[in-house]
Amino acid sequence: MPEKIVLAFSGGLDTSVAAHWLRDQRGYDVHCLTIDLGNLGDTEGIRERGAQAGAAEVDIVDAKDDFLRYFVFPALQAGVMYEGRYPLATALGRPLIAKLLVDKARQIGATAVAHGCTGKGNDQVRLDVGVQTLAPDLKIVGTTREHSVSRDEALAYAAEHGITVRQTKEHSYSTDENLWGRSIEAGILEDPWVEPPADVYLWTRAMEDTPAQPAIVEIRFEEGIPVALDGEAMDPVPLVQRLSDLGGEHGIGRIDMVENRLVGIKSREIYESPAAVILLEAHQALEQLTLTKPQMRFKNTVAQEYSDLVYNGLWFSSHHRDLAQYVVSTQRHVTGDVRVRLWHGTTTVIGRRADRSLYSQGLATYNKDGDLFDQSHAQGFIRLHGLQAQVQAQAQMLTEAGDLLKLAAPED
Ligand code: ARG
Repeated sequence: MPEKIVLAFSGGLDTSVAAHWLRDQRGYDVHCLTIDLGNLGDTEGIRERGAQAGAAEVDIVDAKDDFLRYFVFPALQAGVMYEGRYPLATALGRPLIAKLLVDKARQIGATAVAHGCTGKGNDQVRLDVGVQTLAPDLKIVGTTREHSVSRDEALAYAAEHGITVRQTKEHSYSTDENLWGRSIEAGILEDPWVEPPADVYLWTRAMEDTPAQPAIVEIRFEEGIPVALDGEAMDPVPLVQRLSDLGGEHGIGRIDMVENRLVGIKSREIYESPAAVILLEAHQALEQLTLTKPQMRFKNTVAQEYSDLVYNGLWFSSHHRDLAQYVVSTQRHVTGDVRVRLWHGTTTVIGRRADRSLYSQGLATYNKDGDLFDQSHAQGFIRLHGLQAQVQAQAQMLTEAGDLLKLAAPED
């Protein structure tokens, strides 16, 4: 009896060749697992190529709702953005894929799992670490990593073995997509000086093609989770899809950056993440009303730690669990509405209100009417606030004070 292996299968050229190779060269009974995290496309074609590659089965699992509920929304609550710009769509999908590979392997009694990640990227790390953490006994075969073939060789292999792969424009790049965003890399993008050609973008319109009129959307959050658009309660998948479509139409969510991969390579990446950009912006606006200054500051530190952990594939860890508990605790009062304007590539928050807001117009107002702030307290407060600096200047810094001025305005 051949051993069973579960292959993470996209139905594209590389994984179709991998499926055939695992059976032909490695003697495995190959079970393909295709995980739908959004924008899966042609499921018939996926099944067909699995069959052509000689797989015992092609199992297509819809994991969109779980992906949003258990991976994306916690990350939104945390406010994660890798290196300040990347909403981590691809990175957030990987631990779920790892978990589903393991579940499938257990269900059919497989001894191994396989994926088609290259040896230069982050995705191999995330999948391997996920599987290794959840099921240390399973073997992991990285098909492309162990047996790298050029695109032409892969095409020739597919043709020789009767696997029909559609040539698409997308093939000039390496892409990954799910509901939270689309990642594009390689090809001409490897030169960071070159502007991305128009065909890189599939979800977002170029600025010149965006509508003349803005779209205004009201987003309701409950404890940091988006639950309704324009007063209509919505489940996670349609809510995110709607914002993604609308944002894309208005050219929102294009990101072009050079990032630091875990394996030490700097890489040029393009992202299209309209829903993520809108929701992160709106969520932050609500936190501005509902969190105090130290909460906001410390939560920012946690967000950076959280982002790195997600990026580096350490989702299944106690450190993550601990950070997540803190984040959930901060969200207790992040309930309210945010109104955003989507227009010509920009998301602008134009209104916000919270059920238990810390904002007090009575304290903030410059009008005399209804002013609750006693300005006579300010003077004494400032005296004490500045006391340390004053004492120190007199005792230690009198001679240095001039230097500080020079630092501020260096002479030539
Ligand atoms: N650089 C991004 C990340 O590491 C995107 C990776 C995209 N993956 C892909 N197979 N094209 O999360």
